[in-house]
Amino acid sequence: MEIAVCRAADVAPLDEFIGSPGAASSHARRFARQQAGGGTYLVAWIDGRPVGHGEVIWDGCAVPEVRAALPGCPELNGLGVWPPRLRSRGIGGALIRRAEELARERGRTFLGLGVAANNPRAAALYARLGYLPLTDYVDCWSYEDSDGVIRECVDPCTFLTKELPSGPLDVKRS
Ligand SMILES: CC(C)(COP(=O)(O)OP(=O)(O)OC[C@H]1O[C@@H](n2cnc3c(N)ncnc32)[C@H](O)[C@@H]1OP(=O)(O)O)[C@@H](O)C(=O)NCCC(=O)NCCS
Repeated sequence: MEIAVCRAADVAPLDEFIGSPGAASSHARRFARQQAGGGTYLVAWIDGRPVGHGEVIWDGCAVPEVRAALPGCPELNGLGVWPPRLRSRGIGGALIRRAEELARERGRTFLGLGVAANNPRAAALYARLGYLPLTDYVDCWSYEDSDGVIRECVDPCTFLTKELPSGPLDVKRS
């Protein structure tokens, strides 16, 4: 398994293998934010096929109460491993660790991520990796379904943060 920063040519295979339901590709949106300097979109690959992704948004979570609780904390957003049979093999954890390395390389001292109240397995993984609750918030988001209808979602969530170690990086990548 390899993890690499998304390139323009990766958007099509991401859409093919980990497609978003609607016309508006979330991969294209995340890649565009990366090109504008606002994010870094990490993609996990096995045998030339994308199997996971996660985006570090450098400006942090858009929700005001999260921003107020820890100003300037970058957010790891859109973490996922697909197809589901590839979960529980360390891909998600590896994406998180790579995001932490990126944040440290930029001199950031925290990384945060939001987890929905109905996602206890993901919450267990984040707790295991050292993420602690910062604040509860309500995530309001929308997506376009396969009929082109915009669906609005409201999820109670907790924003978790981890203080990153300072000092030189000792990165061993396989
Ligand atoms: C959460 C997720 C990214 C973790 O990736 P992963 O590759 O399974 O993570 P790892 O293999 O490094 O760690 C596995 C742990 O993740 C957690 N986990 C969360 N959701 C899981 C799922 N649906 N299946 C398997 N493990 C899951 C468990 O704690 C698991 O521990 P276990 O192996 O002891 O059961 C992945 O399971 C996923 O894509 N879930 C669906 C989308 C999602 O919930 N994204 C997170 C939004 S906050």
